[in-house]
Amino acid sequence: MLSEYLLAEMSRLGQSGELPLHRQLYEALRRALLEGKLGAGDRLPSSRDLAQDLSLSRNTVVAALGQLTVEGYLVSHVGSGTFVHDHVPQRALRLWAPSAEPARLSQRGEALAHRHCARDLEIQPFTPGTADFSAFPVALWQRLQNKHWRAAYPEMLDYNDSGGYGPLRRAVADYLRVFRSVRLDADQVLITSGTQQSLELCAHLLADHGDTVWLEDPAYWGAVKAFTATGLAIHPVAVDDEGIAPSATDEAHPPRLIYVTPSHQYPTGAVMSLARRQQLLATASRCNAWVLEDDYDSEFRFSGPPISSLEGLDEEGRVLYMGTFSKVLYPGLKLGYLVVPKALVHAFKQAHYDLNRPGQMPLQAALAEFIEMGHFASALRRARQTYAERRQLLVDALAPVLSSGLGRIHGAAQGLHLCLRLPSHADDRAMAAQAAREGLTVRPLSAYCLQRQDLRGLAIGYGYAASAGIQRHGAALAQLLTTRVAPSRT
Ligand SMILES: Cc1ncc(COP(=O)(O)O)c(C=O)c1O
Repeated sequence: MLSEYLLAEMSRLGQSGELPLHRQLYEALRRALLEGKLGAGDRLPSSRDLAQDLSLSRNTVVAALGQLTVEGYLVSHVGSGTFVHDHVPQRALRLWAPSAEPARLSQRGEALAHRHCARDLEIQPFTPGTADFSAFPVALWQRLQNKHWRAAYPEMLDYNDSGGYGPLRRAVADYLRVFRSVRLDADQVLITSGTQQSLELCAHLLADHGDTVWLEDPAYWGAVKAFTATGLAIHPVAVDDEGIAPSATDEAHPPRLIYVTPSHQYPTGAVMSLARRQQLLATASRCNAWVLEDDYDSEFRFSGPPISSLEGLDEEGRVLYMGTFSKVLYPGLKLGYLVVPKALVHAFKQAHYDLNRPGQMPLQAALAEFIEMGHFASALRRARQTYAERRQLLVDALAPVLSSGLGRIHGAAQGLHLCLRLPSHADDRAMAAQAAREGLTVRPLSAYCLQRQDLRGLAIGYGYAASAGIQRHGAALAQLLTTRVAPSRT
């Protein structure tokens, strides 16, 4: 019986012509063990008998049995023979026996793997939120990196447990204090690998599995994913022209965390009014919730007075402020920062170390010097001017859509995208799909909505496309919109 099984298996395994005979026998015997054809404690035929039954040389059989013995499947007792090991094959069977159902993702895995965040058309004209990183001063950056690599002492190559490279934390703190009215010491700054990591850290440290997080509706997909991954219950709160607008019904779902983009709501572009900011802080206080302020593109404000951070209004230490270098420098840099209240600094540093094993010190040192030498400020100045021009070109190109009353631009003149609001009957997904066929990536507003059904429009990025491209593609987009929206108006 056993030899028939082994011969059949070896013949199958030998078909490729790649496995030597002793390996074929090893695989066949192993499978016999895993499939339970031999049970724990069973005695195997002697190597001589096996060699004879299988028409193999005894050396071949001894080699296969030897390997299985070394791996713990078999045990050999001098004088009495070779036996199936008592433990390992049983365990192996449980672990490896094929289950009735194919392996599946967890429910969380399904939610995360959903294509909501797909980036397959990312670097295309009009992709929202994408900066023009072709303008990044690569040669200078390379020089700075080389310098810090040459100077790197062993600690710089280790994990880092102090929240990031000191001079970078100080440079970030100075910038935020002056330009964003954030009240902080450098010690409150944690360097992270970007907003995603900042959000996950906040969720891990400030909320428990199943706790409620309020999210703006429509919402930034990255935040949806971060909170899904950390097992929080997402409660959408509608956004209006003044930002997040919680109602009494929302307060029936008291949040542990509230995630907001007050300077430039993503994707609608709404700026949270002062009244709404005060109201939100009061709500957070009543519910004893933390507020997570994502200030992802506040560096690029083109008109009107600068908008200070929400954190600057917070008297109770409830706001955690986060920003990123993805927009001013380039996304693949993977560096951002999180400002935590003083009382939480130690806990955050500790957990950041244990969860993420942060490092990249030479990179952080190069960035610190980049900022200290004024390159960050000049990159920002250049970028601000470029994006302001591009935004205007896009607005001009969309003039036919605006003047015919088909759509209107919503939100502040800020950041890397604008939000074109369309009538509620417009099929913004179909429009985005049509634009994609023409090589333009615009995002339908309805795709960002978590619960509400009333919003239609397009998030259109102007950061990445060069000026000539904006004019050309903008005209094509306007043409597409006027032909797609106009007929369905009547
Ligand atoms: C609202 C918002 N926050 C944060 C980010 C980027 O964060 P990071 O690249 O640091 O993860 C984006 C990028 O598009 C964004 O739209």
